[in-house]
Amino acid sequence: MSRVAVVTGASSGIGEAVVRRLVADGAVVAGLARRGERLAALRAELGERFLPVRVDLSVPTRARVAMDAVRSGLGQPSVLVYAAGFGDGASLLEGEPTQWQEQCAVNVVSAAACVRALLPDFRDVGGHVVLVSSMSAHRVPCGAGMYAATKHAVRALAEGLRLELRAAGSDVRVSQVSPGNVDTRFALAPEEPSRRDFLPYAPLAAEDVAELVAYVLAAPPHVEITDVLVRPTGQPS
Ligand SMILES: NC(=O)c1ccc[n+]([C@@H]2O[C@H](COP(=O)([O-])OP(=O)(O)OC[C@H]3O[C@@H](n4cnc5c(N)ncnc54)[C@H](OP(=O)(O)O)[C@@H]3O)[C@@H](O)[C@H]2O)c1
Repeated sequence: MSRVAVVTGASSGIGEAVVRRLVADGAVVAGLARRGERLAALRAELGERFLPVRVDLSVPTRARVAMDAVRSGLGQPSVLVYAAGFGDGASLLEGEPTQWQEQCAVNVVSAAACVRALLPDFRDVGGHVVLVSSMSAHRVPCGAGMYAATKHAVRALAEGLRLELRAAGSDVRVSQVSPGNVDTRFALAPEEPSRRDFLPYAPLAAEDVAELVAYVLAAPPHVEITDVLVRPTGQPS
């Protein structure tokens, strides 16, 4: 894959694993996130095939500026993997509206803003958008109502985008990957143990999800994988 890819959420977890996987597959990758020290560590590891771009995606208007930085650093991108997201404070009885607003901005609105900023690049180069969604786009876990709302919105966003692209005669593809529990620090407080230490089953590894993203991206141009639902084998719901 000799493409320029943009990966959000590149500083940890699934996004970081996707960066490593795409670079190993031959892509040049721009990685977006807030934690500059973690992006700098990836740059030290991966060298010039990785461009760190610091951005806070809770402010969706910053997506355009970040994409300008990608273009001037690496050239025209043709892949977006949107893995930025968080789920803290999603309880509808006890969560804070400011946290809900930030969740909607990062998980949903900035995903749309990144796509919007990249579509001019994606035309005529077989562009591909992969949104890292969740099993919470397909059912609602108790206590995670706002998070599930954002992921249901991501599913609607992907379908709405696909329909608009087809109506416009575009060949840009839109895919989602919807994992169950993955062994990252997602929605865990610093003092909490890792998922593999408290779940009664083995969670997915971030690399398992990255493998699926690579599979989706490697499909031939006439194949658009719309959604991949994947759970750890032991996860009941
Ligand atoms: N882990 C799971 O069980 C699981 C299951 C299903 C779906 N998912 C989804 O997978 C995606 C990645 O999560 P993960 O499990 O890899 O968790 P993670 O390790 O916490 O990664 C989240 C990423 O999002 C970035 N991010 C968060 N807020 C941001 C902001 N305001 N601006 C820019 N970047 C921001 C973080 O970077 P910075 O903090 O450096 O900004 C980090 O790179 C999320 O969309 C999540 O909903 C996770």
